Amino acid sequence: MSDIICLCKNISEETIVEAIKKGADTVDAVKEATGATTGFCHGGRCKAKIEALIEANK
Ligand code: FES
Repeated sequence: MSDIICLCKNISEETIVEAIKKGADTVDAVKEATGATTGFCHGGRCKAKIEALIEANK
């Protein structure tokens, strides 16, 4: 089971990594592709985790 990265929008690590592998190499691109960071906290809880995933998977 994949961890939830964006708690507000219930978006899993698997979904984020898939978007990165398809070319989303910035937080904005991941946002466009998945909707992550568009929730109630506006990325307060997930943005740093997404940045780390981009670094690890690009
Ligand atoms: S956890 Fe991602 S927008 Fe709040």
